Amino acid sequence: MEIGGITVSEKQFDVVIVGGGGSGLRASLEISKSGLDVAIVSKVFPTRSHTVAAQGGITCAIASADPNDDWRWHMFDTVKGSDYIGDQNAIEYMCSEGPDAIFELEHMGLPFSRFENGRIYQRPFGGQSKEFGEGGQAARTCAAADRTGHALLHTLYQANLKAGTKFLNEWFAIDLIKNDEGTIKGVSCFDMETGEVSIIRCNSVVLATGGAGQVYEQNTTSLICTGDGLGMVLRQGYPLQDMEMWQFHPTGLYGNGSLMTEGCRGEGGYLINSEGERFMPKYAPKAKDLASRDVVSRCIVQEILAGRGCGEHKDHVLLKIDHLGADSIMKKLPEIREISMTFADVDPINAPIPVVPTCHYMMGGIPTNVNGQVLTTSNGKDEVVEGLYSIGEAANVSVHGANRLGGNSLLDLVVFGRAAGRHINKEAAESDSKDISMTNIEESLDLMTKIQSTTEGESVFALRSEMQNIMQNHFGVYRNEQLMKEGIDKLKDVTERTKNIHLIDKSNQFNSERVEILEYFNLLEIANATAYSAIDRKESRGAHAREDFPNRDDENWLCHSLFFKNENRVSKRNVNLSPKTVDAFKPKARVY
Ligand code: FUM
Repeated sequence: MEIGGITVSEKQFDVVIVGGGGSGLRASLEISKSGLDVAIVSKVFPTRSHTVAAQGGITCAIASADPNDDWRWHMFDTVKGSDYIGDQNAIEYMCSEGPDAIFELEHMGLPFSRFENGRIYQRPFGGQSKEFGEGGQAARTCAAADRTGHALLHTLYQANLKAGTKFLNEWFAIDLIKNDEGTIKGVSCFDMETGEVSIIRCNSVVLATGGAGQVYEQNTTSLICTGDGLGMVLRQGYPLQDMEMWQFHPTGLYGNGSLMTEGCRGEGGYLINSEGERFMPKYAPKAKDLASRDVVSRCIVQEILAGRGCGEHKDHVLLKIDHLGADSIMKKLPEIREISMTFADVDPINAPIPVVPTCHYMMGGIPTNVNGQVLTTSNGKDEVVEGLYSIGEAANVSVHGANRLGGNSLLDLVVFGRAAGRHINKEAAESDSKDISMTNIEESLDLMTKIQSTTEGESVFALRSEMQNIMQNHFGVYRNEQLMKEGIDKLKDVTERTKNIHLIDKSNQFNSERVEILEYFNLLEIANATAYSAIDRKESRGAHAREDFPNRDDENWLCHSLFFKNENRVSKRNVNLSPKTVDAFKPKARVY
């Protein structure tokens, strides 16, 4: 067919998964094994997805480091880490299903590091405890040295090849397509190698498009982390949840942004300021350098603001691991050593690594239930968006609430990837519908046809860096009304100028400018969602630290925020405080 001067071809599968990272691959594996025809649309070769960058590990109570470990202790830590707006039914599901999901990966061949007794190696990570916070530091993060995401991604990719999953690699998904009842029935996309545009018909679409760290200037994420699924959801009129909650990892490599895993501190490393002082014990006497990430990041910023930052500009601190010894560093943290030597010219065997809090993870995302089904609201009630699923960092199920604990992200990917796959299989087995009609095909190609016909206007590169700069300076670790208002005014200007964006290169083969414009459209949606959600929440909770509202306010804000693109509206949604098998954890002051 011909749409807006573009030739459009068609494909059809039972299920389409957008994104080939850990969650997408775990879902596709489950679906492929059931015999359904599933395709992954991935804008990079799947083993280059951002999951590959996960270093420190996957947190789960497999009782390897401690035979008495209990998933309920993990659940307690996660609820507390979330500053009580993580949904307790979802956290319960993740922590209790986790061990089975880990052993499954082990049996697929994931090359975990091992203890002497042969069991999977587990290291301490931030915010972990035994006995509901009363029994001291736990060691619950299962690791493959400091390359756990790499190992996980390759294991899942190979299992998918064996199971017969189809891959459309280096294909870019543009927008969702519905039928006239509003059920999602496919996606529009194009092959980046040839420029060929297609629509794909299917019965279920799974958005596993990952996070959007590229919305900030300084981030630990890959260039591909542009929140494409979130943009698609907003453009259909559905909401995003808790978009004010962005995690700043305490130890991004200064000047470069690469992750310096929390595993460094888990293995015994610690932070020092320009006076050589180990400063975390004065802020978090019990957990010290292993307090949760939002806490450690704020402490680093406090040290810098107090003039105790390091280097010429006194704008970072140092991560010391040299005392761990060369053998231990080369065995447990080899990647950290390599990155530090390559990008900071520091060999951590001999000298401390310069680090600074850096945007790392999007706690917010597309609201879903534990089956991965996307939710919207109607008259204040949750409603499932038929045909649409989301999993992984793109989704907000919500297990991380206002602050994610390290290592819980990889667990989220595999537990909810598998859950979504199971639900899709069940729905397919129970349904006899063969309807894959589509009504808004033309509209789904709007962004593509519009930029294709521009003759002059603004450059995507300039607009994107302006947006990233606004987000960095107005919606960072500390926030206040005045700062955010100024940020919103600047974003309005950028949003207006984006209407006049110009695609200079109209060629078809590997046109990276076209891809970057489409990615930028998604990032800008996310910037606006973050800004309006952040100014709306008038309290401090987890990663959302407001100087003008320094305290948590459970009376008014023990809730999720929902952002709708239409008029930048923000509303509230209840937090689930009803786990099925244990008593709910009641909100308490959060101290480490
Ligand atoms: O520090 C890290 O290794 C990061 C882990 C995570 O974000 O889960």
